[in-house]
Amino acid sequence: MWKFASPIRHQIPEAHWPSAEEAAQSQLFKPIRLGPLMLEARTWVPAMVPWRATEDGFVTQANLDWYRRFAAGQPAALVVEATGIRDIPSGPLLRIGHDRFIPGLRKLVDTVREASGGHTKLFIQVIDFLTVKRRPEREKYFERFLRITDRHRKALVENTGDSHWLNADDEELRAFLKEAPDETVYSVLDERELESLRFGYRERVMDTHLSQIRELPEVLPGIFANAAERAREAGFDGVELHYAHAYTMAGFLSALNNRNDRYGGARENRVRLPLEVYSAVRERVGRDYVVGVRFLADEVIEGGNRIADAVYFGVEFAKAGFDFLSISKGGKFEDAQQPKVGQAVYPYTGQSGYECMPTTLSDEIGPFGRNVPLVAAIKRAVNAVGFATPVIATGGITTFEQADGILERGEADIVGLARQALADPDWFLKVKLGRGEQIRRCTYTNYCEALDQAHRQVTCKLWDRVELDEPEIAWADDGRRRLLAPKWKR
Ligand SMILES: Cc1cc2nc3c(=O)[nH]c(=O)nc-3n(C[C@H](O)[C@H](O)[C@H](O)COP(=O)(O)O)c2cc1C
Ligand code: SF4
Repeated sequence: MWKFASPIRHQIPEAHWPSAEEAAQSQLFKPIRLGPLMLEARTWVPAMVPWRATEDGFVTQANLDWYRRFAAGQPAALVVEATGIRDIPSGPLLRIGHDRFIPGLRKLVDTVREASGGHTKLFIQVIDFLTVKRRPEREKYFERFLRITDRHRKALVENTGDSHWLNADDEELRAFLKEAPDETVYSVLDERELESLRFGYRERVMDTHLSQIRELPEVLPGIFANAAERAREAGFDGVELHYAHAYTMAGFLSALNNRNDRYGGARENRVRLPLEVYSAVRERVGRDYVVGVRFLADEVIEGGNRIADAVYFGVEFAKAGFDFLSISKGGKFEDAQQPKVGQAVYPYTGQSGYECMPTTLSDEIGPFGRNVPLVAAIKRAVNAVGFATPVIATGGITTFEQADGILERGEADIVGLARQALADPDWFLKVKLGRGEQIRRCTYTNYCEALDQAHRQVTCKLWDRVELDEPEIAWADDGRRRLLAPKWKR
């Protein structure tokens, strides 16, 4: 895990919980309009992948149980994990790339409606991602993956002073490079090839020499629209287009996107496809359906987007007609740590990953409400051009005062609690009922995130080994952890 040079250990903030009457008077429990529908409060559980779908992307009983558990706490809005829009294998992550996924998703919607007593609106985050391969063994990389070209031959001649490499056959080159010292390899491979060797091959939106990448602007609007139509058919209250973190749409928005067609370079070009995708989705689902977006306030990588870019995108998204703007930060491949051989690079291991899910081992600012000034800047800009599009702040929000203060000061319109809701899905109901002192407080040390990184079923360290004598516990694959938080015994 990435760490600051001189980290400071922060305590989780003390909390003074409101009485039920105080909660009822607070901003937090005031309704808010989200496009065509009303949320009954300003509380939100952002998307969290729990690694519980089938290998081929279907909703499982464990998915239903996971969302039922969140719904029991009655957040005003709950966003279902990043769900793939293509009909391609992607491991145990939910998919919405074909009509065969609709019945399972419909069951999920019904489960949440019933468990929340209709208090929780349900959205689904829809995602596209590009190919990321596992880090190869060195031998395999040189034997099979590297495409030998004349550039390699010339570089070898230069490096060794031996001109026979110009006419040597591929097999001889492969055998030589496989055994060659690192300095030689570094001088012969280009930057992308070295990255493929050290981290695993990874596509970028700028790889326009590949037809499937060049054609993304023609293809993506349609498949996002199909996914949104399926979401509506399954009964979701709306869709959240995933334009954040390390995935395709964030790649288009990124300042690193230097595609030389109309979709790269200047901000106006980088936002073009995200807006075209939005238009296609809107046209398909109609004006009376919630379509929101999650994007980054800051990519937190060298040469990446900063807050000025995010402000520009926020205003463009509001003008286009998105019903909400959910703001995240970081979570990029560019600064991720090198994975072990056989594993894929994980975009939450560098500084940008820290900023996405900040822990208590932090700098002087600490992890709590760390993104709020950036969110407030986006909201101010959106409001200044005459739009009231609700803006959602997430990142280290854990106490009532913090959440309500953000709303009182007008820094955001809705507050998102991800890890705190995982630690205690009943946070929302406990605060509303004046029972805040019973909340299980997240410690922000990212045991859950490490499980996500290892592609293991996500649980929370505060509850996955407690009350194991409860009847009908669902167990994780490792047989040692319960999969759900214990029921709140009021
Ligand atoms: C286990 C886990 C899975 C996550 N999966 C997603 C995801 O699917 N989509 C997304 O936009 N963010 C995802 N996130 C990020 C959260 O939505 C949230 O932005 C982040 O955890 C910071 O908020 P917090 O401090 O309230 O936890 C995930 C976070 C965790 C801990
Ligand atoms: S595992 Fe740790 S960081 Fe994750 S929700 Fe639980 S207490 Fe919070």
